[in-house]
Amino acid sequence: MSQVSSCSVDILNVSLGERSYPIHVGPGMLESRDHLLSYLAGRQVMIVTNETIAPHYLSVLKQTLAGGDLDVRELILPDGEATKTLASVERIWDALLAAGFNRRCTLIALGGGVIGDMTGYAAASYQRGVAFIQIPTTLLAQVDSSVGGKTGVNHPRGKNMIGAFWQPRAVIVDTDTLATLPARELSAGLAEVIKYGLIWDADFLAWLEREMSALRALDGDAIAHAIRRSCEIKAEVVAEDETEQGVRALLNLGHTFGHAIEAHQGYGNWLHGEAVAAGMMMATRLSAERGWLTEAEVERVERILEAAALPVAAPANMSVADFLERMRLDKKNHDSRLRLILLESLGRACIRDDTDPSQLEWLIESFPRR
Ligand code: NAD
Ligand code: GLY
Repeated sequence: MSQVSSCSVDILNVSLGERSYPIHVGPGMLESRDHLLSYLAGRQVMIVTNETIAPHYLSVLKQTLAGGDLDVRELILPDGEATKTLASVERIWDALLAAGFNRRCTLIALGGGVIGDMTGYAAASYQRGVAFIQIPTTLLAQVDSSVGGKTGVNHPRGKNMIGAFWQPRAVIVDTDTLATLPARELSAGLAEVIKYGLIWDADFLAWLEREMSALRALDGDAIAHAIRRSCEIKAEVVAEDETEQGVRALLNLGHTFGHAIEAHQGYGNWLHGEAVAAGMMMATRLSAERGWLTEAEVERVERILEAAALPVAAPANMSVADFLERMRLDKKNHDSRLRLILLESLGRACIRDDTDPSQLEWLIESFPRR
C-alpha cells in the first residue's frame, strides 16, 4: 500500500451522555500531542500494540507522548486473531500490575481490531474499569471495531464470546497508517464499509460502487470519506442502542454466517472481513429467497464484494451441520430462536427470527463453495 494523501481532520461524536466521546479522523494524528494528552485520565499510560505494528508506529506515538511528566509504558503482544484470548488479556493485566498502575491509568490500543478488542476488555476489567483510547491502524478497526465499546476475546467454541461493553475516551484515526496495511487487510476492512451501505445508506452503497478502485488505491479523499461516513453511521446506531437491545444488531449483517466460518476454519485463516463478506452474500441470497431482493440486486452485491477482492463463496469444507452448530451459539439468538440480519432492500436491513429452517438448510447447502 502506498497512497493516502493529506486532507483535513474531521471530528465526529458518539453521543452517549456522560460517556460521549469524539472520533478524530485525519492524516498525521499520531503526532498530534494536544489531542492525545487531553484524553488521558492521569500520568500513567500503557500502550498496547503488537509485534507487526510496533516497528511502524510505536516510536512515533511514544515521541508524541514524551517530554512531559507522563509515565509511559508499552506492551508488545504477538500478532494474530488466534492470540485474541483471555491469556493475552492476562498479559495486559500483568503488565499493568507490574508497573504499579492504579485506577487513573489510561490504556492506549495501537493496532487493529484484535489489539483494540483485547485492550478494551483489559481496560474494562482492570481494577473494575480504567480509561482507554483507541488508535486503530487497520481500515476495519477505523470504520468499525474501535467505535462503540464492544470489547472482548474469542473462545474456541465461538467468536467474541467473552467480553464487555466499555467505551473508549476517544478514537483517534490516523489515516496515514493505512499506507503500510497489506492489500488483503484493506479488503477485509472494505467488507465492513460495504456493510454500512447495505444496511443503512443506499446512496453510500452507490458511491462505494463508483469509488472502489480509488479506495483500493488508497486515494486520500476517497478513504477519508469512506471512514467518515462509516463512523457516522456507526455512531448514530450506537448512540441509539449502546448494548444491542435492538437496532445495533443490524451492524451484524453477515456476521452470524461469518463468525461460524471464522471459528470453524480456525481463527486467522479466514480474516474477519473475508468471513463477513461471504456471510453478507449468504444473507443477501436468503433475503432474495424471501422475495425482498431481485436477482439483479443480488448480482450487484456480488459485484461490489468482488470489486473489493472479497470472497463471495463459503469454505469448501463446511457442511450445513458445521454452520448450524456454530450459528446456534450466536449472541443475537433469543432462547433457542436463531435471529438473522437480512435485507429488506439495498440500504435497509431488518432482524428476523422467522427463517424457515429448511429454507436456511437449503440456502447453506446450495451456496457456492470455494
Ligand atoms: P487485526 O487486528 O488482526 O489486524 C490485521 C493485521 O494487520 C494484523 O496482522 C495486524 O498486526 C496488521 N496491522 C494492523 N495495522 C497495520 C498497519 N497499519 N500496517 C501494517 N499492518 C497492520 O484485524 P482487524 O481486521 O483489524 O480486526 C479484526 C478483529 O476485530 C476481529 O477479532 C473482530 O472480531 C474484531 N471486530 C470487533 C468489532 C467491535 O465492535 N469491537 C467490530 C468488528 C470487528
Ligand atoms: N461490529 C458490530 C457492533 O459493533 O455492534
